[in-house]
Amino acid sequence: MSFKVPWSKQHKTITGGLPLSFSNSYTEPLSMPELVELTRARGDHALVDAFDQHGLEYTANGGSLDLRQTIAGLYGNAIGADNILVFCGGQVALQTCAFALLTRADHAIVFTPGYQSVQQAPLFAGADVTTIPLQAENGWQIQPDEVEAAMRSNTRYLVINEPFNPAGSLMSRRLQGDLIALAERHNLHLLSDEAYRLLEHDPRTRLPAMADAYPRGISLCTLSKPWGACGVTIGWLALQDTALRQACIDVQYFGSACPGRASELQAIMTLRASDAILKKNLAIIAHNLHLLDEFFQRYSKFFQWVRPTAGAVGYVKFSGPMSSAALGKALADAGISIKPAYVFSDPAYADAYRDYFRIGFGEASMPKALVALQRFVEEHQHSW
Ligand SMILES: Cc1ncc(COP(=O)(O)O)c(C=O)c1O
Repeated sequence: MSFKVPWSKQHKTITGGLPLSFSNSYTEPLSMPELVELTRARGDHALVDAFDQHGLEYTANGGSLDLRQTIAGLYGNAIGADNILVFCGGQVALQTCAFALLTRADHAIVFTPGYQSVQQAPLFAGADVTTIPLQAENGWQIQPDEVEAAMRSNTRYLVINEPFNPAGSLMSRRLQGDLIALAERHNLHLLSDEAYRLLEHDPRTRLPAMADAYPRGISLCTLSKPWGACGVTIGWLALQDTALRQACIDVQYFGSACPGRASELQAIMTLRASDAILKKNLAIIAHNLHLLDEFFQRYSKFFQWVRPTAGAVGYVKFSGPMSSAALGKALADAGISIKPAYVFSDPAYADAYRDYFRIGFGEASMPKALVALQRFVEEHQHSW
């Protein structure tokens, strides 16, 4: 079997473990003592006891009922515990759903740049895939006429990611409605990767979850991003289509059919503490964005971005004399990590985005990295 190193992983040999990081896309990670403290502060001692005393047997396929009930609370009336399917992280959910839904005879539509699994899961599942490139000039927004033009008689699946990684943009309700109408007209399943939902910088811009808004809609979510709990490795799908949910369970059966109980209980603790965790993380994001605004204003000759409105990442254009890959290497030598364009697009599209790099600003340590970046720019700008 041949195996290609994922393009989203290639930067790791250059930037892995660097002390000054803009690389992460998650918010400030929690610690277990913090999680227990938040749980006890609410008087939820029974949950801490359940964690301390849980057995190590298999959990139910697709996730235990108590976790699915807790997750269902994030959605509207159409979504109950039986509409939730739990996975060991969001990435597995992306792959499983594509395998459950698609055959070699099917066609899917995805967008670039983006998280590799969002773009490529349908391809791994054997489907024909049309990739539509998004443009900064359009605020990284999907153009429905381009999606319409890509439709074929065998198109079954449309995959979007809102809020959008890598740019931190968010579509309007109107655009979401247009895409749902298009999906409805063509009888498509529409998966929205909502890994960054609940991190809208202005909560009034939050979109309805796709699972609530469209009967063939699928919402993907994970604890990894807004809750800063990637180590819990719990993600999920929410969907009204119970036949597709069953097909996903059948695919999942051959992988990690059930998460560990410790992860499930940590996930329940995390979700019950949502208000406090999201408030803290949104405050870190707001503070860091303010610092980045000042930086980009000062160095606007070299750096431009479509200012993010949701999530903890942004896609920055570098107008200096080198590609973002070369800039990434030079920054790595100074101990600073960014994610160059090649992390987000397969080589067929990489040239179109060669000047872009992603920065993450969800962690409390970001200001330290920004001070180092500013020092780097001051040292080099005269030769740019
Ligand atoms: C848009 C998006 N979807 C899914 C994932 C995968 O999430 P997880 O870490 O839970 O596998 C990521 C992780 O970076 C992501 O950015």
